[in-house]
Amino acid sequence: MEQVRVGVIGMGMGRNHAVHYRDCPEADLVAICDVDEGRLAEKAAEVHPRRTYTRYEDLIADPEIDAVSIALPNVLHAPVTLQALEAGKHVMCEKPLAMNAGEAEGMVATARRLGRTLMVHFNVRFNPTSQAVKHAIDQGALGHIYYARSVWHRKRGIPRLGGWFTQQQLSGGGALIDLGVHRLDLALWLMDYPKPVSVTGVTYGHLGKQLGDREGKEFDVDDLAAGFIRFDNGASLTMETSWASNSEKREDQWTQLFGIDGGALIRNLHEGYDFEARIFRNVDGEVVTEEPHVPEPRETAQQHFCRAILSGTEPMATGEQGLVVMRLLDALYESAASGYEVRL
Ligand SMILES: NC(=O)c1ccc[n+]([C@@H]2O[C@H](COP(=O)([O-])OP(=O)(O)OC[C@H]3O[C@@H](n4cnc5c(N)ncnc54)[C@H](O)[C@@H]3O)[C@@H](O)[C@H]2O)c1
Repeated sequence: MEQVRVGVIGMGMGRNHAVHYRDCPEADLVAICDVDEGRLAEKAAEVHPRRTYTRYEDLIADPEIDAVSIALPNVLHAPVTLQALEAGKHVMCEKPLAMNAGEAEGMVATARRLGRTLMVHFNVRFNPTSQAVKHAIDQGALGHIYYARSVWHRKRGIPRLGGWFTQQQLSGGGALIDLGVHRLDLALWLMDYPKPVSVTGVTYGHLGKQLGDREGKEFDVDDLAAGFIRFDNGASLTMETSWASNSEKREDQWTQLFGIDGGALIRNLHEGYDFEARIFRNVDGEVVTEEPHVPEPRETAQQHFCRAILSGTEPMATGEQGLVVMRLLDALYESAASGYEVRL
């Protein structure tokens, strides 16, 4: 079988990319990279790449590599993606696509100019429950979706307080850009990416600052955000997210869609990362609850990326969609800072 020769940069979340490439018949895992030599050696022993690099520039220059996954701190997404694209590589970039929409625009334009694939790792779309609900929607189960809400709250779940996640200049933001990005994309994808026209947002950082001060660690981003988005087809979306909140559940993820012919719900179970999905059909005015069926065959984001490259088709999580999400994130932050609605 024809294979895509891949490299993975960054061995935190990038370890998952490497595992999926290792297990994917359409991928040949050529190399992995991390500045942390200990981490690099540990992951290499697990995924068995042919080579390892400590400098991403060297992996990008490797002529045997066709495509790269970039799983670096957010501040490095744009510069490393641009370098990889310019070297002729296809790129799967972790979420958020960039620090802001300006950076994302440059990435999308460069991929287009060079005819390379740019995919965003919106891996929540690949969950069986997400796939099942999308399949039901594509079959017409919901009709016109006029309202949605998408939520991801945590009781106490700030990623590495004091590290790059909690410093604005390295992350571009807090809970909103980190977790909110997933729930925004999931809802938008299920709604078929309607065109946003206005955004109102609020952000807070009370608990992060409190915890940071207590431990002497830097925290200058949001730990809770909420927003309301209107679309040009009349639909609207409410979103909420937090890394830390005085609430009940360790993890609380919840995406609900309200359509004329039916509704849908995806939520996590047992405060963890298992999910369930439901479809609520409008049958003669009554609501009938169903469990949507998961379409086959299943694929990982990495397999999808490789298949898109091999077949010359667009991946299902495009750079353009990543850019739409970045524009929404920028607008939510702008609205939160100004106190006003932002028109797009
Ligand atoms: N899709 C998801 O579900 C998901 C989950 C977690 C993280 N992420 C995203 O993945 C990205 C990385 O997050 P993480 O949690 O893995 O962070 P992390 O800090 O755990 O890992 C980043 C890795 O990059 C390495 N690194 C940093 N600078 C480097 C450089 N110049 N050259 C080579 N290696 C370098 C670090 O040593 C580290 O091992 C972020 O954008 C994050 O938003 C996505």
